Amino acid sequence: SEKELAPKRPPVVTVMGHVDHGKTTLLDAIRRTRVAEREVGGITQSIGASVVNYKGQKIVFIDTPGHEAFTEMRARGAMVTDIVVLVVAADEGVMPQTIEALNHAKAAGVAIIVALNKMDRPGANPDRVMNQLAAMGLIPESWGGDTIYVPVSAIKGEGIEDLLEAIILIADLLDLRGDPEAPLKAYVIESRLDKGKGPLATVVVREGTLRVGDFVVVGTTYGKIRAMFDDKGDPISSAGPSMPAEIMGIQDVPEAGTLVQRVDSLEEAERIAKSNSDLQRDKQQKTRKEFSLEEILSSSEEEKPVLNLILKADTAGSLEAVQNALLKLEKGEVDMNIIHAGVGAISDGDVILAEASKALIVGFNVRPVGKTNKLIEEKGIKVLTYRIIYDLVDDMANLLKGLVK
Ligand code: GTP
Ligand code: NA
Ligand code: MG
Repeated sequence: SEKELAPKRPPVVTVMGHVDHGKTTLLDAIRRTRVAEREVGGITQSIGASVVNYKGQKIVFIDTPGHEAFTEMRARGAMVTDIVVLVVAADEGVMPQTIEALNHAKAAGVAIIVALNKMDRPGANPDRVMNQLAAMGLIPESWGGDTIYVPVSAIKGEGIEDLLEAIILIADLLDLRGDPEAPLKAYVIESRLDKGKGPLATVVVREGTLRVGDFVVVGTTYGKIRAMFDDKGDPISSAGPSMPAEIMGIQDVPEAGTLVQRVDSLEEAERIAKSNSDLQRDKQQKTRKEFSLEEILSSSEEEKPVLNLILKADTAGSLEAVQNALLKLEKGEVDMNIIHAGVGAISDGDVILAEASKALIVGFNVRPVGKTNKLIEEKGIKVLTYRIIYDLVDDMANLLKGLVK
């Protein structure tokens, strides 16, 4: 007998891009709200979820403060995003964080739509942006590729329908489905402590249905859901696949990326949360977790092991030289995949990306700075730094030959 398909679910769309390229303003235009104006200093501080109804279809949007939060969630297995809208200001063009956001989205394997924003600005040059991004693999449809570029002006509200159409089109191609009757799988995307309501967590449901009255375990905390609110703050009684909800009734404020599980009683919830805290404490007590090359190489699902690399260098010129030298290397028993290359010190974002993608970080004339060293230690990420390009290339050549086993 044929297996019945789960019902369709709305796409979950995350908006990413360089600082001030207009992510929040674009969402404002989509929602016709005025969030960006109210933000402290105009900077997005938390992940907000909102639901938009477009021609009878729902689209769930997530506004992120940055790609680190996005990849941190992925590192915890909490992938809620189906589509990334990469916002690029058409006057400023591709910036370092545009590239980082793009590489984080690529590493996550999600569909990407480019919004060419600030088209109202006199210096807007969409062709230049398309050229820059095409060089990074996002070939526009109009050039025979498969990336949709949508020119918009968030501030004037122009091109918004085209963007929503593009999202619906991609969502249809992805054929997104979620079973409201399946066991609950939901993830925390943000949380806060409210003076009156206590700990609150915004969750996005992946599968199943979350309901008021449910007993839940949320990582190391738990509770009985006393109330749920939709993206507008209105009370709701349930949330199905793809839908966001703010939940009230848990004991403590959970971290973003935490899985929400449903159990049968408050006692069971308390017991599992307690055992989760014990596990977490044990983990923290363990000395440095070794994140070895073997682990990096064996994590690939391809037949041939793949060495995932994150390359950082001191200048654009040296970065290019290293990349060119690596691309010329003969492929041995191991394939090489540069998932991110950038100029600057090895950052927290690089470490989080390395963890989520099981990658090796290679620095040329750069090192990790300050607190990043601590994060590398905690996460057990492998970092190699070089001052001589031949040493770097030699080591990588040896790795590719499969000498390190
Ligand atoms: P972060 O969350 O801080 O990374 O910024 P963001 O990408 O959300 O950008 P935000 O929406 O805060 O916009 C940054 C600035 O660009 C604001 O002053 C906006 O008014 C302006 N802006 C956004 N979109 C447009 C646009 O289409 N045209 C013009 N001219 N200005 C825009
Ligand atoms: Na901003
Ligand atoms: Mg913003």
